[in-house]
Amino acid sequence: MVFSPSSGYPTHRPRRLRSHPRLRDLVREQRLTVDDLIYPMFVYHGKNVRREIASMPGQYQYSLDRLGDAVAEIAELGIPSVLLFGIPEHKDATGSAASHDSGIVQDAIRLIKKQSPELHVITDVCFCEYTDHGHCGPLTDRSGRLDVDNDATLPLLAEQSVSHAQAGADMIAPSGMMDGMVQAIRAGLDGAGFTHIPILAYAAKFASAYYGPFREAAESAPSFGDRRSYQMDPANGDEALREVALDLAEGADLVMVKPALAYLDIVRRVKDSFGVPVAAYNVSGEYAMVKAAAAKGWIDERRIVLETLTGFKRAGADMILTYHAPDVARWLRNG
Ligand code: PBG
Ligand code: ZN
Repeated sequence: MVFSPSSGYPTHRPRRLRSHPRLRDLVREQRLTVDDLIYPMFVYHGKNVRREIASMPGQYQYSLDRLGDAVAEIAELGIPSVLLFGIPEHKDATGSAASHDSGIVQDAIRLIKKQSPELHVITDVCFCEYTDHGHCGPLTDRSGRLDVDNDATLPLLAEQSVSHAQAGADMIAPSGMMDGMVQAIRAGLDGAGFTHIPILAYAAKFASAYYGPFREAAESAPSFGDRRSYQMDPANGDEALREVALDLAEGADLVMVKPALAYLDIVRRVKDSFGVPVAAYNVSGEYAMVKAAAAKGWIDERRIVLETLTGFKRAGADMILTYHAPDVARWLRNG
C-alpha cells in the first residue's frame, strides 16, 4: 500500500473495484462455466444396476439399461462431455475384455451416441478395471518382482483405443502412464483411419492416495503392491514437465494433470511452459472429502465447490473433470 505523504491516507485503493456488485462482475478474471466440465461415469456389467458408491455419495455404477436416463440428464444439464470407465464381468491377466467389440465401454458408447448424440464421449483407456490383478497392464517378472510390462502393454492400448473409436468414441484418454503410450495409440488410431480422433493424455498422473474412492467405484484396486512403478512421485514437479513434453512430442492433443488440488502448481507450469489445452482431474478423493464435510454440515458445499473449480481455472486449467459436474451445472443455471 502506498501512503500519500501529505495526507497519511492510502492513494491506491483496490477496494474501489470491489465497491459495487456489478463492478465486481466487470473486473472478474475467471469464469467457471458448464462448458468447462467433463463428467466421469462408471458403466457396470449386468442388468438393472444403479448402485451408489459408498465413498462417493451421489455417484453411481450404472448397467447399460440404466445408463440412458443418467446420460439424458447430463445432456439436459448442458454438460458437454462425459468420460467413461467400464467394469467388465470377466477379468483376466491381460485384461482382454477391454478390447471386445461388444465390451462394456464399447456398448456404452454406442448407446450414448444413439440416444444423446450431442454429448462428446471420451473414454478412459487403461487395463486396471480389466485385469484380475488390478494393475494397468499385463505383468512380467523383473528379478523376482512383478511389474507391469510396459512394451507388452503398448499394442494392447492401441487395440483398446481403436475398438473405442470404432464404437464411436470422440476422444481417447489413456491413463496408464506407460512410456510411449501416446505414440502407440496415435499410430494405432491413424492406421485404422481415425486420424481425426484426438488424444487427451493423462500426462502428469501422480501415484496418489486421492484415488482411493475411485478404486471402489471401478473395482480396480491392485491386488498386490501399488502403482508407484508407473505413476509419478508426488514430490516431482520438473519430472511432470518432462512427462508432458514427451506426451506432446508423441502426439498428445491435450494434456491432463491429476489429481488437481495438491498439484495446481503443475497445472500452472504446464500451461505456462507449453500453452496447450490443459485438463485438471478433480479426483474421487477430493470429491469424497467435500461430500463428507458437507454431510456433517461443516462447510457450504456449493460455495466450496465453485471456489475450488474456479481456482483450477485460475491455475491454468482449460477444462475440469469432476464428479461435481451435475451439481455445478445446476448451480450455474439457477444462480
Ligand atoms: C485408472 C484410473 C484411475 C483414475 C482414473 N483412471 C485410478 C488409478 O490410477 O488407480 C482415478 C480417478 C479418480 O480417483 O477419480 N488408471
Ligand atoms: Zn489403470
